[in-house]
Amino acid sequence: MSASLPKVELHLHLEGAAPPAFIRGLAAEKKIDISGIFDERGNYAYRDFWHFLTVYEAATAVLTTPEDYHRLTLAVLEESAASGVVYSEAFISPDFCGGRDLSAWRDYLHAIREAADLAERRHSIVLRGIVTPIRHFGPDKAKEAALCAAETAGDWLVGFGLAGDEKSGKPKDFAWSFDAAREAGLRLTCHAGEWGGPDSVRAAIRDLRVERIGHGVRAIEDLALVDEIAEAGIVLELCPGSNVALGLYKDYRSHPIDRLRERGVRVTVSTDDPPFFHTTMALEYDRLAEAFDWDDGVFHEIAKTSAEAAFCTFKTREKIL
Ligand code: ADE
Ligand code: ZN
Repeated sequence: MSASLPKVELHLHLEGAAPPAFIRGLAAEKKIDISGIFDERGNYAYRDFWHFLTVYEAATAVLTTPEDYHRLTLAVLEESAASGVVYSEAFISPDFCGGRDLSAWRDYLHAIREAADLAERRHSIVLRGIVTPIRHFGPDKAKEAALCAAETAGDWLVGFGLAGDEKSGKPKDFAWSFDAAREAGLRLTCHAGEWGGPDSVRAAIRDLRVERIGHGVRAIEDLALVDEIAEAGIVLELCPGSNVALGLYKDYRSHPIDRLRERGVRVTVSTDDPPFFHTTMALEYDRLAEAFDWDDGVFHEIAKTSAEAAFCTFKTREKIL
Protein backbone atom coordinates (compact mmCIF):
# COMPACT_ATOMS: atom_id res chain seq x y z
CA MET A 1 0.00 0.00 0.00
CA SER A 2 2.65 2.53 1.07
CA ALA A 3 4.88 1.37 -1.80
CA SER A 4 2.91 3.74 -4.03
CA LEU A 5 3.77 6.88 -1.98
CA PRO A 6 6.76 8.69 -3.53
CA LYS A 7 9.71 8.55 -1.14
CA VAL A 8 13.01 10.36 -0.76
CA GLU A 9 15.77 8.50 1.06
CA LEU A 10 18.72 10.49 2.41
CA HIS A 11 20.55 7.90 4.52
CA LEU A 12 21.56 4.70 2.75
CA HIS A 13 24.96 2.97 2.86
CA LEU A 14 25.62 1.49 -0.57
CA GLU A 15 27.48 -1.58 0.72
CA GLY A 16 25.05 -1.90 3.63
CA ALA A 17 22.21 -2.20 1.14
CA ALA A 18 23.77 -5.24 -0.57
CA PRO A 19 21.33 -8.17 -0.47
CA PRO A 20 22.95 -11.19 1.27
CA ALA A 21 22.33 -13.37 -1.81
CA PHE A 22 24.21 -10.83 -3.95
CA ILE A 23 27.23 -10.89 -1.58
CA ARG A 24 27.12 -14.72 -1.36
CA GLY A 25 27.05 -14.97 -5.16
CA LEU A 26 30.04 -12.67 -5.53
CA ALA A 27 31.93 -14.52 -2.78
CA ALA A 28 31.28 -17.84 -4.57
CA GLU A 29 32.50 -16.40 -7.90
CA LYS A 30 35.72 -15.24 -6.20
CA LYS A 31 36.06 -18.33 -4.02
CA ILE A 32 36.07 -16.24 -0.84
CA ASP A 33 34.68 -17.98 2.25
CA ILE A 34 32.45 -15.61 4.20
CA SER A 35 29.92 -18.23 5.36
CA GLY A 36 30.50 -17.12 8.98
CA ILE A 37 28.66 -13.83 8.47
CA PHE A 38 25.29 -15.44 7.66
CA ASP A 39 22.73 -17.21 9.83
CA GLU A 40 21.07 -20.51 8.92
CA ARG A 41 18.42 -18.69 6.86
CA GLY A 42 21.06 -16.86 4.84
CA ASN A 43 20.57 -13.47 6.50
CA TYR A 44 23.43 -11.37 7.84
CA ALA A 45 24.09 -12.38 11.46
CA TYR A 46 25.51 -10.03 14.11
CA ARG A 47 25.30 -9.73 17.91
CA ASP A 48 25.42 -5.97 18.39
CA PHE A 49 26.43 -2.75 16.61
CA TRP A 50 30.17 -3.35 16.91
CA HIS A 51 29.86 -6.91 15.59
CA PHE A 52 27.59 -5.50 12.87
CA LEU A 53 30.50 -3.26 11.75
CA THR A 54 32.77 -6.34 11.51
CA VAL A 55 30.20 -8.31 9.51
CA TYR A 56 29.60 -5.25 7.30
CA GLU A 57 33.30 -4.96 6.54
CA ALA A 58 33.58 -8.71 5.81
CA ALA A 59 30.67 -8.49 3.35
CA THR A 60 32.17 -5.37 1.76
CA ALA A 61 35.52 -7.13 1.27
CA VAL A 62 34.04 -9.21 -1.58
CA LEU A 63 33.36 -6.00 -3.54
CA THR A 64 36.76 -5.65 -5.16
CA THR A 65 36.21 -4.09 -8.60
CA PRO A 66 34.30 -1.19 -10.17
CA GLU A 67 32.21 -3.80 -12.01
CA ASP A 68 31.13 -5.23 -8.61
CA TYR A 69 29.95 -1.77 -7.57
CA HIS A 70 28.13 -1.36 -10.88
CA ARG A 71 26.18 -4.56 -10.22
CA LEU A 72 25.63 -3.63 -6.58
CA THR A 73 24.27 -0.18 -7.44
CA LEU A 74 21.82 -1.63 -9.95
CA ALA A 75 20.60 -4.27 -7.46
CA VAL A 76 20.18 -1.70 -4.69
CA LEU A 77 18.32 0.86 -6.81
CA GLU A 78 15.97 -1.78 -8.18
CA GLU A 79 14.99 -2.64 -4.57
CA SER A 80 14.59 1.02 -3.61
CA ALA A 81 12.44 1.78 -6.65
CA ALA A 82 10.18 -1.17 -5.78
CA SER A 83 9.54 0.57 -2.44
CA GLY A 84 8.50 3.78 -4.19
CA VAL A 85 11.78 5.66 -3.71
CA VAL A 86 12.15 8.34 -6.40
CA TYR A 87 15.36 9.94 -5.11
CA SER A 88 18.13 8.52 -2.97
CA GLU A 89 21.49 9.60 -1.61
CA ALA A 90 24.04 6.86 -1.02
CA PHE A 91 27.03 6.89 1.30
CA ILE A 92 30.07 5.71 -0.65
CA SER A 93 33.50 5.32 0.85
CA PRO A 94 36.88 5.49 -0.90
CA ASP A 95 38.05 3.30 2.00
CA PHE A 96 36.21 0.47 0.27
CA CYS A 97 36.55 1.77 -3.31
CA GLY A 98 40.17 2.08 -4.36
CA GLY A 99 41.68 3.38 -1.12
CA ARG A 100 44.05 6.32 -1.52
CA ASP A 101 44.48 5.68 -5.25
CA LEU A 102 42.57 8.57 -6.78
CA SER A 103 42.44 7.05 -10.25
CA ALA A 104 40.92 3.82 -8.84
CA TRP A 105 38.38 5.94 -6.92
CA ARG A 106 37.46 7.70 -10.17
CA ASP A 107 36.91 4.28 -11.81
CA TYR A 108 34.64 3.12 -8.97
CA LEU A 109 32.70 6.37 -9.04
CA HIS A 110 32.31 6.14 -12.81
CA ALA A 111 30.94 2.57 -12.50
CA ILE A 112 28.47 3.60 -9.78
CA ARG A 113 27.31 6.60 -11.80
CA GLU A 114 26.85 4.50 -14.95
CA ALA A 115 24.68 2.06 -12.98
CA ALA A 116 22.73 4.97 -11.49
CA ASP A 117 22.06 6.37 -14.99
CA LEU A 118 20.83 2.97 -16.10
CA ALA A 119 18.57 2.64 -13.05
CA GLU A 120 17.20 6.14 -13.67
CA ARG A 121 16.20 5.13 -17.22
CA ARG A 122 14.81 1.75 -16.12
CA HIS A 123 13.13 2.59 -12.80
CA SER A 124 12.83 6.39 -12.70
CA ILE A 125 14.92 6.63 -9.54
CA VAL A 126 17.57 9.34 -9.15
CA LEU A 127 20.74 8.67 -7.15
CA ARG A 128 23.37 11.09 -5.84
CA GLY A 129 26.52 10.27 -3.83
CA ILE A 130 27.93 11.31 -0.46
CA VAL A 131 31.57 10.44 0.26
CA THR A 132 31.67 8.93 3.72
CA PRO A 133 34.88 7.97 5.49
CA ILE A 134 34.73 5.53 8.37
CA ARG A 135 35.32 7.09 11.78
CA HIS A 136 37.13 4.15 13.35
CA PHE A 137 39.60 4.05 10.42
CA GLY A 138 40.87 7.37 11.81
CA PRO A 139 41.36 11.02 10.72
CA ASP A 140 44.20 10.30 8.24
CA LYS A 141 42.00 7.97 6.20
CA ALA A 142 39.24 10.56 6.38
CA LYS A 143 41.66 13.16 4.92
CA GLU A 144 42.39 10.85 1.98
CA ALA A 145 38.65 10.41 1.47
CA ALA A 146 38.13 14.18 1.65
CA LEU A 147 40.78 14.71 -1.04
CA CYS A 148 39.07 12.10 -3.26
CA ALA A 149 35.74 13.82 -2.58
CA ALA A 150 37.10 17.30 -3.35
CA GLU A 151 38.57 16.07 -6.67
CA THR A 152 35.28 14.56 -7.78
CA ALA A 153 32.74 16.98 -6.25
CA GLY A 154 30.03 18.16 -8.61
CA ASP A 155 26.43 17.70 -9.66
CA TRP A 156 26.54 13.97 -8.84
CA LEU A 157 28.94 13.72 -5.92
CA VAL A 158 27.16 16.21 -3.70
CA GLY A 159 28.00 15.53 -0.07
CA PHE A 160 30.52 14.49 2.56
CA GLY A 161 29.74 12.58 5.76
CA LEU A 162 31.16 10.37 8.47
CA ALA A 163 29.96 6.88 9.46
CA GLY A 164 31.33 4.05 11.62
CA ASP A 165 31.95 3.81 15.33
CA GLU A 166 30.77 7.01 16.97
CA LYS A 167 32.74 6.14 20.11
CA SER A 168 36.00 6.33 18.17
CA GLY A 169 37.62 9.78 18.32
CA LYS A 170 35.91 13.16 18.43
CA PRO A 171 34.25 15.17 15.66
CA LYS A 172 36.95 17.84 15.85
CA ASP A 173 39.55 15.20 14.83
CA PHE A 174 37.78 15.23 11.46
CA ALA A 175 37.37 19.00 11.13
CA TRP A 176 40.15 19.31 8.52
CA SER A 177 38.35 16.84 6.24
CA PHE A 178 34.99 18.54 6.67
CA ASP A 179 36.54 21.97 6.02
CA ALA A 180 38.18 20.65 2.83
CA ALA A 181 34.91 19.10 1.68
CA ARG A 182 32.98 22.31 2.41
CA GLU A 183 35.53 24.34 0.45
CA ALA A 184 35.05 21.99 -2.49
CA GLY A 185 31.33 22.84 -2.45
CA LEU A 186 30.14 19.62 -0.79
CA ARG A 187 27.21 19.63 1.63
CA LEU A 188 27.79 18.05 5.04
CA THR A 189 26.26 15.40 7.26
CA CYS A 190 27.65 13.25 10.09
CA HIS A 191 26.48 10.19 12.02
CA ALA A 192 25.98 11.34 15.62
CA GLY A 193 23.61 10.74 18.50
CA GLU A 194 23.24 7.04 17.68
CA TRP A 195 25.82 5.50 20.06
CA GLY A 196 26.86 8.82 21.56
CA GLY A 197 24.58 11.06 23.61
CA PRO A 198 23.59 14.72 23.24
CA ASP A 199 27.21 15.92 23.64
CA SER A 200 28.21 13.93 20.59
CA VAL A 201 25.47 15.65 18.55
CA ARG A 202 26.49 19.07 19.88
CA ALA A 203 30.14 18.44 18.95
CA ALA A 204 29.23 17.37 15.40
CA ILE A 205 27.17 20.52 14.89
CA ARG A 206 29.76 22.83 16.46
CA ASP A 207 33.01 21.32 15.12
CA LEU A 208 31.94 20.03 11.71
CA ARG A 209 29.20 22.57 10.92
CA VAL A 210 26.94 19.96 9.39
CA GLU A 211 23.47 20.77 8.09
CA ARG A 212 22.15 17.23 8.53
CA ILE A 213 22.76 14.62 11.23
CA GLY A 214 22.67 10.87 10.59
CA HIS A 215 20.35 9.49 13.29
CA GLY A 216 20.67 12.16 16.00
CA VAL A 217 17.95 10.35 17.95
CA ARG A 218 19.72 10.66 21.27
CA ALA A 219 19.26 14.42 21.14
CA ILE A 220 15.89 13.55 22.70
CA GLU A 221 17.75 13.05 26.00
CA ASP A 222 18.31 16.84 26.15
CA LEU A 223 15.30 18.94 25.17
CA ALA A 224 17.35 22.15 25.02
CA LEU A 225 19.39 20.50 22.27
CA VAL A 226 16.23 19.36 20.48
CA ASP A 227 15.07 22.99 20.49
CA GLU A 228 18.45 24.17 19.14
CA ILE A 229 18.25 21.62 16.32
CA ALA A 230 14.71 22.70 15.47
CA GLU A 231 15.66 26.39 15.62
CA ALA A 232 18.72 25.88 13.38
CA GLY A 233 16.68 23.87 10.87
CA ILE A 234 19.12 20.96 11.07
CA VAL A 235 17.60 17.88 9.46
CA LEU A 236 17.71 14.48 11.15
CA GLU A 237 18.17 11.46 8.90
CA LEU A 238 16.17 9.07 11.06
CA CYS A 239 16.32 5.31 10.51
CA PRO A 240 13.86 3.79 13.00
CA GLY A 241 14.18 0.19 11.76
CA SER A 242 17.96 0.37 12.11
CA ASN A 243 17.70 1.69 15.68
CA VAL A 244 15.21 -1.02 16.64
CA ALA A 245 17.23 -3.84 15.01
CA LEU A 246 20.41 -2.67 16.77
CA GLY A 247 18.63 -2.53 20.14
CA LEU A 248 18.61 1.23 20.70
CA TYR A 249 14.80 1.14 21.14
CA LYS A 250 12.68 -1.87 21.89
CA ASP A 251 10.09 -1.15 19.19
CA TYR A 252 8.83 1.54 16.77
CA ARG A 253 6.46 3.00 19.36
CA SER A 254 9.40 3.72 21.67
CA HIS A 255 11.33 5.50 18.90
CA PRO A 256 11.55 9.31 19.39
CA ILE A 257 10.68 10.22 15.77
CA ASP A 258 7.17 11.38 16.65
CA ARG A 259 8.31 13.39 19.70
CA LEU A 260 11.09 15.06 17.68
CA ARG A 261 8.64 15.94 14.92
CA GLU A 262 6.06 17.29 17.40
CA ARG A 263 8.76 19.52 18.88
CA GLY A 264 9.49 21.09 15.51
CA VAL A 265 12.53 19.13 14.29
CA ARG A 266 12.79 18.53 10.53
CA VAL A 267 12.66 14.72 10.43
CA THR A 268 13.21 12.37 7.49
CA VAL A 269 12.95 8.57 7.18
CA SER A 270 15.57 6.19 5.75
CA THR A 271 16.62 2.54 5.99
CA ASP A 272 20.40 2.83 6.69
CA ASP A 273 21.39 -0.77 5.73
CA PRO A 274 18.08 -2.38 4.73
CA PRO A 275 18.92 -6.12 4.46
CA PHE A 276 20.90 -6.03 7.71
CA PHE A 277 17.87 -4.62 9.50
CA HIS A 278 15.17 -6.58 7.64
CA THR A 279 13.58 -3.45 6.31
CA THR A 280 12.70 -1.48 3.17
CA MET A 281 11.39 2.06 2.73
CA ALA A 282 7.87 0.67 2.21
CA LEU A 283 8.14 -1.34 5.46
CA GLU A 284 9.42 1.73 7.35
CA TYR A 285 6.36 3.68 6.21
CA ASP A 286 3.99 0.83 7.15
CA ARG A 287 5.54 0.32 10.58
CA LEU A 288 5.55 4.06 11.36
CA ALA A 289 1.94 4.43 10.21
CA GLU A 290 0.95 1.63 12.56
CA ALA A 291 3.04 2.77 15.54
CA PHE A 292 1.99 6.45 15.43
CA ASP A 293 -1.25 6.36 13.50
CA TRP A 294 0.29 8.58 10.82
CA ASP A 295 -1.75 9.23 7.69
CA ASP A 296 -0.50 9.95 4.17
CA GLY A 297 -0.38 13.68 4.99
CA VAL A 298 2.45 13.09 7.48
CA PHE A 299 4.37 11.01 4.96
CA HIS A 300 3.94 13.69 2.27
CA GLU A 301 5.31 16.25 4.74
CA ILE A 302 8.29 13.97 5.49
CA ALA A 303 8.98 13.42 1.78
CA LYS A 304 8.82 17.21 1.22
CA THR A 305 11.25 17.86 4.08
CA SER A 306 13.55 15.19 2.65
CA ALA A 307 13.44 16.73 -0.83
CA GLU A 308 14.21 20.18 0.62
CA ALA A 309 17.14 18.73 2.58
CA ALA A 310 18.53 16.77 -0.37
CA PHE A 311 22.05 17.79 -1.36
CA CYS A 312 21.36 17.76 -5.12
CA THR A 313 21.09 20.86 -7.29
CA PHE A 314 17.92 22.93 -7.31
CA LYS A 315 17.18 21.69 -10.83
CA THR A 316 17.32 18.03 -9.76
CA ARG A 317 15.24 18.75 -6.66
CA GLU A 318 12.50 20.32 -8.77
CA LYS A 319 12.18 17.03 -10.65
CA ILE A 320 11.97 14.63 -7.72
CA LEU A 321 8.57 15.15 -6.13
N1 ADE B 1 27.67 2.21 8.83
C1 ADE B 1 26.65 1.50 8.35
N2 ADE B 1 25.57 1.60 9.15
C2 ADE B 1 25.94 2.42 10.17
C3 ADE B 1 25.27 2.91 11.33
N3 ADE B 1 24.01 2.61 11.61
N4 ADE B 1 25.97 3.70 12.16
C4 ADE B 1 27.24 4.02 11.89
N5 ADE B 1 27.91 3.59 10.83
C5 ADE B 1 27.26 2.79 9.97
ZN1 ZN C 1 24.12 5.09 8.71
